[in-house]
Amino acid sequence: MGGGRGLRCARAWVHGFALVVVMLAAACSSGSDGSSTGATANPTPPVKECGAHGGDCRLRAVAAAADLRVGTAVQTGPLADEAAYRGTVGREFNSITAENDMKWPTIHPAADRYDFAAADAVVGFAADHDMEVRGHTLLWGQTEYTTVPDYVANATGPDELRAYVDDHITTVVRRYRGRVQRWDVVNEPLDTVGTAMENNVFLRLLGEGYIADAFRTAHRADPAAELWLNEAVLETLPAKAQAFADLVTRLVADKVPIDGIGLQTHLLAGVPDPVAFRALVRRFADLGLDVAITEMDLPAGTGPDRLERQARGYATTIGACLAVPRCREVTFWGFTDRHTWIDDFLGPGHDPLLFDRDYQPKPAYSAVREQLAARR
Ligand code: G3I
Repeated sequence: MGGGRGLRCARAWVHGFALVVVMLAAACSSGSDGSSTGATANPTPPVKECGAHGGDCRLRAVAAAADLRVGTAVQTGPLADEAAYRGTVGREFNSITAENDMKWPTIHPAADRYDFAAADAVVGFAADHDMEVRGHTLLWGQTEYTTVPDYVANATGPDELRAYVDDHITTVVRRYRGRVQRWDVVNEPLDTVGTAMENNVFLRLLGEGYIADAFRTAHRADPAAELWLNEAVLETLPAKAQAFADLVTRLVADKVPIDGIGLQTHLLAGVPDPVAFRALVRRFADLGLDVAITEMDLPAGTGPDRLERQARGYATTIGACLAVPRCREVTFWGFTDRHTWIDDFLGPGHDPLLFDRDYQPKPAYSAVREQLAARR
């Protein structure tokens, strides 16, 4: 591990986001390029597949032909300021997620005040470009990040907190009725690297039932919206995956209105074994739920063939999900290496996304497109 890399990783630790203690350790020590999987995808553009779409080789055209959603998270700044950013999003994706603009601290900063400006811009962009919206996220209580404003974190008892939650979910979901097709109702209900429920303010004051209640409240606010539960690092941590599957099983048994499971799939620790990943997806499909990859990115690692190995890693993982018919969406946590949270988390240079810093498609782009096309 070089000194610069070590420093960046140390800084990421200090920043205190526990997205995966385990993942970060792996990324710092070996470079997370997933080269060990023996993946077989060919990153060369599949000309015949594009021909099958009338020559339209955009990701969204290929995805739509397979009745799939291909999405990206977007950041407000570049969406407003960079024509190339806007152009690429509108051209390539049929679904969009606000990376931060619908989170509680942004959209509902004070108990009596909502601020919809940034979220409206994202939803408006989607409408202008014939895209769907994945709403992210109604409830996310985490200790390392500020995922709720102080008035929520400091709620003095269950009644006060329940009132905040009901008002929040009802107001936000109603506002975007018909314009946000699906919501990550609850994000990361479990410990980042453990099997216990995340010990957040919702669990402490309301108990595990806060999850079911949130889904029921969202369903009342927009009965047509799809409601999803989103979780991190299940592909890396089998014991956590088991605990999460148990939670989902309880929700389904209790007839909670849940439509799907979001697998974030930030591959900071490398590419998961595709057979195990497919089994994970199938597990939720077998419970009668849809499945989506909701936040995918994959640091490119090192070496002269780093981008080709990255492409194979993307292809292997996406192919494993799409092998299960209930896997209906692949959303990336950004699309250009120019704007990625990984730069803040691990430091620059990991180049985790499908387009380079100049908005040129990388080998991963073609590899992903090929997997989408293969689903037909
Ligand atoms: O908006 C302020 C800005 O005004 C200020 O100048 C800047 C200085 O640091 O901070 C800005 O806010 C930051 C925000 O990202 C926008 O850049 C927050 O501090 C920072 O905590 C926030 O991080 C986001 C994080 O979620 C927490 O909400 C990341 O961008 C975002 O990529 C990340 O996304 C999460 C998913 O929601 C859930 N799954 C994991 C994923 C990756 O961590």
